[in-house]
Amino acid sequence: MEDFVRGLPKAELHLHIEGTLEPEMMFALAARNGVSLPYASVEAVRAAYEFENLQSFLDIYYAGAACLLHEQDFYDLTWAYLERARADGVRHAEIFFDPQTHTGRGVAFATVVGGIHRALEDGRDRLGVTSGLIMCFLRDRSAEAAAETLQAALPHKALLLGVGLDSAEVGHPPSKFAAVFERARAEGLRAVAHAGEEGPAAYVWEALDVLGVERVDHGVRSAEDATLVARLAAEQVPLTMCPLSNVRLRVFDRIENHNIMRLHDAGVLVTVNSDDPPYFGGYVGENYLAVQRAFGLDRGQLRDLAANSIAASFMPGDRKAELTAELNAYVQAAG
Ligand code: HPA
Ligand code: ZN
Repeated sequence: MEDFVRGLPKAELHLHIEGTLEPEMMFALAARNGVSLPYASVEAVRAAYEFENLQSFLDIYYAGAACLLHEQDFYDLTWAYLERARADGVRHAEIFFDPQTHTGRGVAFATVVGGIHRALEDGRDRLGVTSGLIMCFLRDRSAEAAAETLQAALPHKALLLGVGLDSAEVGHPPSKFAAVFERARAEGLRAVAHAGEEGPAAYVWEALDVLGVERVDHGVRSAEDATLVARLAAEQVPLTMCPLSNVRLRVFDRIENHNIMRLHDAGVLVTVNSDDPPYFGGYVGENYLAVQRAFGLDRGQLRDLAANSIAASFMPGDRKAELTAELNAYVQAAG
């Protein structure tokens, strides 16, 4: 079953590139760049991965990102992710990045996007992994700062697939970012947003109706609102769910109580993703396996989850058809 899950052709749609920083790379980059870290060792970093909630994770996540300075750093980070993702069957990835985390430290937007994009091109050419980049606004910073970030991004628009919204959710509703999302969509960018991770179902409604998002990231608290669940199902709005993240950030006490399969059974288009893999105990394959074990999924159900990831992606139709054919051939060959 483990081999079947890892080999299953899939798309990853909820992955923060800064959140793929392994402790070993954190130390290597800190040494290379002369940055001092608030940890004595790799083991001390891993020991700090004991989270109470989203904010306690974000504090460590932003501290780690401080060792990323040069274009090559962003390249190395992204390349390391792509190799691990490919080993987990990922054939297409839509990747978040947080420019404000870097521009606030004096790292130019072009440095960040340039390094990530160069790795994504190599990922396509050398690993066969296609991809897109989604620029996230930090919702715990101001709407003006988000607008400035979009302005700085527009000269690089050709490298971007869309915009998203992340960081500390509660107290920062989607409606705060109505204007910048409207502008981004008018520029032809796709829109997604984290909503209903720690925040209420009302934030999911706002993400849909005020920001005009095509997908909701996490969205687990949608389950508290039956009318919303019915709408997500009727409109087939995908949820990009991250089961191991939700357990580590205590959104659910244990994986068996996660609502992914309940929402699936209610007709919602759910997908499995890794969010920030080293911080939460696993890449996307680990997340599929955790769900498989918790709910006793069979191969057909795993196939359906992988098919959902392809359907929910922003890939062009021909690439979707290609990956769907690959998925079907894989499942058939597995017997
Ligand atoms: N939620 C909000 N912001 C984030 C996350 C998350 O899971 N990961 C990285 N930034
Ligand atoms: Zn996330």
